[in-house]
Formats: sequence, structure tokens, C-alpha cells
Amino acid sequence: MNFSQRTNWDLTENDFTAAVRAARAAGRELLDLTVSDPTACGFRYTAESLLAPLVNPAAMLYEPSSLGMPHAREAVAQYYVDHGARVSTDHICLTTSTSEAYSFLFRLLCDPGDEVLIARPSYPLFDFIARLDDVRLAEYPLVYDGGWQIDFHRLKSAITRRTRAIVVVHPNNPTGNYAAAWERAALDEICARHKIALIVDEVFLDYPVSHAGEPSFLTVGSKALTFVLSGISKVCALPQMKLSWVVANGPRELVESALSRLELIADTFLSVNAPMQYALPEWLASCNDIQLQIRERVTANLSLLAGHSHGSQANLLAMDGGWIAVLRVPRYVQGVAFAAKALEQGVVVQPGEFYGLSAGHIVLSLLTPPEIWQAGIATLQLHLLIE
Ligand SMILES: Cc1ncc(COP(=O)(O)O)c(C=O)c1O
Repeated sequence: MNFSQRTNWDLTENDFTAAVRAARAAGRELLDLTVSDPTACGFRYTAESLLAPLVNPAAMLYEPSSLGMPHAREAVAQYYVDHGARVSTDHICLTTSTSEAYSFLFRLLCDPGDEVLIARPSYPLFDFIARLDDVRLAEYPLVYDGGWQIDFHRLKSAITRRTRAIVVVHPNNPTGNYAAAWERAALDEICARHKIALIVDEVFLDYPVSHAGEPSFLTVGSKALTFVLSGISKVCALPQMKLSWVVANGPRELVESALSRLELIADTFLSVNAPMQYALPEWLASCNDIQLQIRERVTANLSLLAGHSHGSQANLLAMDGGWIAVLRVPRYVQGVAFAAKALEQGVVVQPGEFYGLSAGHIVLSLLTPPEIWQAGIATLQLHLLIE
């Protein structure tokens, strides 16, 4: 039997993941500092009011709408009004997930073998999405100097005649840096000059740490064809409900021809179901409470971690937003070795290598419930793990 080359994945479990699974199977109680599913972190959700709009009788009618039902797209437009941006509902396309949105855009922009530039470090799912869509990923580095920045020199030299888009995550996962105003302007300029698209993933936009964060890329007009992605998995902390969106921005003609093609891609799948679209306006209108709970958790966990890492050789790297913290340990300590030692102490942390960070980085989820976080960070004994 022949399967497609694109599904010839190496499915062997890495040693660290196997060790965590074995420890769990052996009944060991682990302090897991990597849980990033908000529905499993002890937040207060008002289940009744979240589930109520799903039983709207209007959802009994089948009204296929390729880009999404008008009232649902209006709710997305309103979300951006609240963020200081005016977007036309005609420029919004609903999808079931941000991952699906990436996939639609890769199919819109790329022929097999074309390239998309992504940041390193970044979110590991890109490899799978790109491979499934026959797209090659090329990388541009983010560099750390008291804060993370795009290395524009390397980004420009990574552009080839096969490049079709640059992806920016704003703020980035796992590094937590927003693209600064000058970086946003430079990205727009570069993409317009090379006639390539800019894909901006803003799923963590609403989770700044300590200051107001940075605005959406949609608050200003753009010269480049730009697609902004977000969705309720992070905005409303409802990953199980599966609803996301793409908003197109840029020169009118380009946006219109992109949308007519995107509409046909979306029409081929018609993947977003009706009950979810009826519920979306209510969910978006009531997401302040969960966002506040998450921001408070992230801030409290971050300050506890900062206290513990102070005076140890584990430095907490500066981050401006999102749900993830990165610790830098001396370079001679591989992230995988550190995580393995932590596991011996009963604490689960992620090696930075999983995100394309260089040796000596550890990734932690700031959503971790406080009692697990406190016990886990105290057990970790950052100074001992490094010696
Ligand atoms: C940067 C980023 N984009 C997208 C996603 C996935 O979002 P969705 O659940 O909408 O596919 C994640 C999930 O962690 C993420 O970290």
C-alpha cells in the first residue's frame, strides 16, 4: 500500500515525551508546568450561559454561507472596533480553527514547493500544516537582547523567488514579543516591495503582560496584502468550540481578488457549523471575564517565577504577552537534559528545543493552576538543577 510522501512522518516518540508518559503510567503524581489548555486550568467558566446560545432554533435551517454567516462576521468586525480597527464584514472569512485558516491561506498563496517564512523560535504546528499543503517553510530568526526582535537582515536574505508569504505571530508563541510599530511598518514595506503576503497570527493579542501591549495590525491600512488571523480558542479561551477567522487588509484590488478565491476554498469545505456561528456574538461580547482571569493568572505566575529565578542561573526572559514563559539556563545545559532532571523531581517542563530555541532554554505554561505552579517552581530548585 502506498501512502502519500507528505504523511511519511517519523512517528517515534521522543525520549522525553516517552519518559513523561511512562512516569504517568507508573502512577507518579507529576507537577505539570506545561498545561496550556485553558479549559483544564481551573478557570471559572459560566457553562450555562456559554452553552445557552448553542440551542438557537434558527440553527435548524441550513443556510450555507462560504465566508460565514453575516451576523457572525459582524461580531468579528465588532471585536476589531473594540480594538480600534474598522474592518469590512466582506473582508472576513470564518474557519473552524486558526490552523485551518493557515491551511486555507497556504492553498490560496502557494503552489507545491513555494515557500513561507516563519520566525524561529515559533509554534511547532507550522511544520505539519505546511507539509500537508506541500509548502516549504524557511525561517527568519528572532534575536534576544533584553527583549526579542526580528532579525530583518536575515529575514530579507531568506526571501527567494519562491517566497509567497511571511508569517508573524503577534505576540509570538513561545517568546511573547509583539511586533513593535517599526517592525510592523518594515514588514509591510518588505512584503509590498516583494509582492508577497503578510500573514499575522494575533491569537494572543488580548493577553499583554504589564502594559497595554501593541495594537492589531488591522488598526492601520497596509500596502501589502495582509491576512490577520485569530479565533476563540484564545480570545474566549474556548479551544473546544472551534471557531476562528481571517481578515484581509491591503490594497483594494488585491484584497478583492484574494477574497473571491478564498471564498471558493471555504465553499469547498463549508466547515463552520451553524450553532457555533449563532453563539459567536454572545461569546465575543462576554469574553472580558475569562480574559481578566487569565491575565491575572499569567501575571501572578510570572512574578512568582521571577522571584525564584532571581539569584539563580536560570534567567526569565522578558516577554510582553501570551501564556508562555521562557527560562534561559546556561548553554551547557541542554533543555532536554534539564527537563529530564526536572522530571526526576516530579516536575514537567518543556525543553526549548521543541520550539526551535537553542540549547539552554526551558518553556513553561503560565496558565498552570497556582497551587501546582507554586509547588512545581519550589520543587524545581532552579539553582540545583543547573549545578
Ligand atoms: C500562535 C498560535 N496560533 C494558533 C494556535 C491554534 O489555534 P486554533 O486552536 O484556533 O487552531 C495556537 C495554539 O496554541 C498558537 O499558539
